Amino acid sequence: MPVTAVVGAQWGDEGKGRIVDYLGQRADLVVRFQGGDNAGHTVINDYGKFALHLVPSGIFNPATRCLIGAGTVVNFDTLLAEMATLHQAGVDVSNLWIDRRAHVILPFHRQLDGAEEDARKDGWEVGTTKRGIGPAYADKASRQGIRVGDVLDPARLRTRLEMLVPPKNRELAFYGIAEVTVDALMTLCAGWRDAVGTRVVDGLPLVRDAVRSGHRVLLEGQLGVMRDLDWGIYPFTTSSSPTAGGGCVGAGVPPRAIDEVLGIVKAYSTSVGGGPFPTELFDEVGEKLRRIGEEYGATTGRPRRCGWFDGVAIGYAGWLNGFTGIAVTKLDVLDHFDALKLCTGYRMGDQVLDYVPDTAIQEQVEPIYETWAGWRTDTSRARSWDDLPDAAKRYVTRIGELAGVPVRFVSVGPERDQIIVL
Ligand code: GDP
Ligand code: IMO
Ligand code: MG
Repeated sequence: MPVTAVVGAQWGDEGKGRIVDYLGQRADLVVRFQGGDNAGHTVINDYGKFALHLVPSGIFNPATRCLIGAGTVVNFDTLLAEMATLHQAGVDVSNLWIDRRAHVILPFHRQLDGAEEDARKDGWEVGTTKRGIGPAYADKASRQGIRVGDVLDPARLRTRLEMLVPPKNRELAFYGIAEVTVDALMTLCAGWRDAVGTRVVDGLPLVRDAVRSGHRVLLEGQLGVMRDLDWGIYPFTTSSSPTAGGGCVGAGVPPRAIDEVLGIVKAYSTSVGGGPFPTELFDEVGEKLRRIGEEYGATTGRPRRCGWFDGVAIGYAGWLNGFTGIAVTKLDVLDHFDALKLCTGYRMGDQVLDYVPDTAIQEQVEPIYETWAGWRTDTSRARSWDDLPDAAKRYVTRIGELAGVPVRFVSVGPERDQIIVL
């Protein structure tokens, strides 16, 4: 801190929510800067267990302002359901704000997401969360999108919808989906305006003044760099940039204002959805990682693909994000293995690659592994570095070397206090 970007270093689900909840205890402002309700950020604390989709994971500290930032896409129905769940659990949601520049996910975006996915050829499925993320960002990029601020202004909204609806109806008709009307969408938006209109703000002064005042600001990323629109495994990516650079753009913070970039690194690899995944395990070891790590999607419940730690991906993530430190999560899941493998390079013919190549090449690489001894000791009660067995220390140290930055946190369980601070 003061301004720390917390970003996923792998394929998502690294434990970002868990770490933001921990750091949020001392944060003044937490901004979700991209993505939408495709996120599933699990937080376990005194209030209970939550899978947050849109609400920033700093919400459990009533003194923390939480902003759904300009770079996000917002499904108001999901947001309202999530706010109700939090409220019922006794969480104060009065400090939750939505940037008026964020884009709105409308029901047909979800329908199109599903239809586009079904139309993809075998092997080309992205495996999207079907939350309408891609279609909403596509409308944003083609300058047809509806923004949160438009919802506040019925006359403006109607004009924007009158321009958007005809081309969308042509797309819907192409997929055999029923047409939508401007009036129905106006009614839907009016309900959202009544429900959350007072929480819509211009996030710029809020973020700018917090940064200028030296307040502790967290930029909470969604997903991980391997599914970044530009640098991930395109086309098996999401439609935004989950990097620290994406954090600058999506939250409205200049690059030089970011003090720390904390990469969240799971102690092994998982991926949900399509695309290359060089260290994927198809055997009982992969099944064991899935079972012990409870690797099922927090948003969709899908089983996650599991594999050994990929040090090439981490080096790539470190470069693209400019990590100043990492948090290694789920170390305790590895307590039950005799030996562990770490990928340190990709073999491509007679070449060894030390970076993640473009998708078509990545599909052909073979991982090069080091083998490390396991520790077969319960680490879930470790609260200091010295509580860890030597083999675990060596494994974590090696991860830090591959990331090229200090390990700042080691998480040894999903609960707030199951953490080692270095
Ligand atoms: P996110 O999307 O990056 O926030 O991560 P997810 O919440 O999708 O996935 C991480 C999962 O691992 C959740 O079920 C967490 O409760 C859990 N988790 C986080 N840290 C740890 C840890 O150190 N140990 C264990 N065993 N589980 C963890
Ligand atoms: P968190 O924030 C893991 C994956 C999907 C799909 C691709 C595109 O919890 O880490 P999208 O719905 O964004 O168009 O899907 O990205 N994906 C995620 N995988 N964790 C997530 O979020 C994800 N959000 C999207 O599986 O392959
Ligand atoms: Mg997740």
